[in-house]
Amino acid sequence: MGEFVSVSTDEHGVATLRLDRAPMNALNSQVWSELGDAAAQLTDDDAVGAVVLWGGPKIFAAGADIKQMQGMDFQEFFAHGGALQQAFDALARIPKVTIAAVNGYALGGGCELALTADFRYAADNAKLGQPEILLGVIPGAGGTQRLTRLVGVQRAKELVYGGGMVDAQEALAIGLVDRVFGPDEVYERAVEAARRYAAGPYALRMAKKAIDEGRELDLDSALRLETTLFTACFATEDRRIGMDSFVANGPGKAAFVRR
Ligand code: HXC
Repeated sequence: MGEFVSVSTDEHGVATLRLDRAPMNALNSQVWSELGDAAAQLTDDDAVGAVVLWGGPKIFAAGADIKQMQGMDFQEFFAHGGALQQAFDALARIPKVTIAAVNGYALGGGCELALTADFRYAADNAKLGQPEILLGVIPGAGGTQRLTRLVGVQRAKELVYGGGMVDAQEALAIGLVDRVFGPDEVYERAVEAARRYAAGPYALRMAKKAIDEGRELDLDSALRLETTLFTACFATEDRRIGMDSFVANGPGKAAFVRR
């Protein structure tokens, strides 16, 4: 495991990707690379059924490491600056349900990291934002794109142009986070939810792919993608288990095997 990014998986198939780079979990280039490695591991490991992204109890992440970026010139960033976005793409494409558990600040690249997840659970002391404009740059790891797709053009423009932060309640109101909990319970609640998804069928992969890839297509193409993925569910053991269980015992009792 990396120096700043670790992955641990519990007996229910829930992996926690833990970011730990005191004091602010600033994302330096080593973290970018470790996040990419973790994404590959979480994608490939069949023992992992769902993922929680967590920065620990104090802060999610204060964004890219400004002290490292300060010394970088155009050529350096042009050559290597895409690495963070690539790592975040790999996280967003993990074919399992992912939940970001956000304590404290999630700013800049930290907010963008949370945006790679399917869901964001925030502590009531969380603060989220894209303050890059205050540094003379723009979000560079999905903040102009994933954020806009999530909260809409107007809210995204307010956040990106103004560089301000929203608290957990406002983030909830604009759809930037999905649930708000007390700071001491947000991680546990994310793990609990992730356990339910980890016990779900292989079809969850199809559902994620259909929604995430379908939204980038025109409706007709997206509906055909949905049909293909719906049909693909018939190649899984869980489709058989789910329907047999319903016929024998009624709804909601199937014990899926994630295959
Ligand atoms: C490097 C950082 C940092 C960061 C904080 N620190 N954020 N170092 N990169 N992103 C450092 C501070 O310089 C300080 O170091 C120490 O951490 C503690 O921070 P304080 O500011 O003293 O703490 P506090 O007053 O509690 O304020 C916390 C904060 C603030 C609100 C999170 O630090 C802040 O605004 N940070 C910057 C947030 C930001 O602009 N993020 C966007 C980055 S650009 P010392 O040495 O003084 O103790 C980005 C682009 C992504 O993310 C795309 C790239 C491709």
